[in-house]
Amino acid sequence: MALSLLLLVCSLMASASAGNFDQDFQITWGDERAKILENGQLLTLSLDKPSGSGFQSKNEYLFGKIDMQLKLVPGNSAGTVTAYYLSSQGPTHDEIDFEFLGNLSGDPYTLHTNVFSQGKGNREMQFHLWFDPTKDFHTYSILWNPKHIIFMVDGIPIRDFKNMESRGVAFPRNQPMRIYSSLWNADDWATQGGRIKTDWTNAPFTASYRNFNADACIWSSGTSNCPSTSTASASSDWWNQELDSTSQERMRWVQTNYMIYNYCADLKRFPQGPPPECSAA
Ligand SMILES: *[C@@H]1O[C@H](CO)[C@@H](O)[C@H](O)[C@H]1NC(C)=O
Repeated sequence: MALSLLLLVCSLMASASAGNFDQDFQITWGDERAKILENGQLLTLSLDKPSGSGFQSKNEYLFGKIDMQLKLVPGNSAGTVTAYYLSSQGPTHDEIDFEFLGNLSGDPYTLHTNVFSQGKGNREMQFHLWFDPTKDFHTYSILWNPKHIIFMVDGIPIRDFKNMESRGVAFPRNQPMRIYSSLWNADDWATQGGRIKTDWTNAPFTASYRNFNADACIWSSGTSNCPSTSTASASSDWWNQELDSTSQERMRWVQTNYMIYNYCADLKRFPQGPPPECSAA
């Protein structure tokens, strides 16, 4: 009796947390190169010379904590890009990006991040990872609330884009976004500045996805299913979440040891001084 109750509780928890690709996503391009497998528990994208492939979420979200596990193209992935991002529509769109730039076997992937608000991006930060992202699945998360956009890898924050509306910097908070992902060929720029081209003898290239979870406000017909900003906070930690001192320390560890590009520190690019969101709060 106790055991069956335990099993029941476990299965309820599993169904509450594990998303289902058939339910939550649709394949948008690439035909049979994109596949939903294992009863919706696994999704794979592939790229060959004629085409890449991609998918998008059925829902639009306005704030949330969104987790996905990815296992990237192994071996010689030079020239390939796996993008995983949130984006709204239209010319003044908002966007929150993870992009994984492939590399030669043994050379590290680059994790590229960016934030667009009201159509303006140019806020790139790039990292190497402290593990091989092609060997196993790892969790890539976006925590998006009215004050912060926090990028996380296996629960470790790597970037915190703060709401700096007080300094005149637009912050994504009015436009619902969908989740998108695609695997495509970008060998004109992706790997070592475009010097290394895709080796098509390795095609098809494949990336895999599992354990999608969205603890998020779903936007539908002009309203959010988060009843109001004040009550959303009662049930959802993420709504008010910001980095505590331990998390800040972990982020500092990543940024000190694994960050390879930070637009805020690019003086050549911003000779008049970095954009306003760059200066410490
Ligand atoms: C590829 O490897 C080189 C050499 O380690 C590194 O400089 C570069 O950042 C890596 N990533 C890409 C996308 O070129």
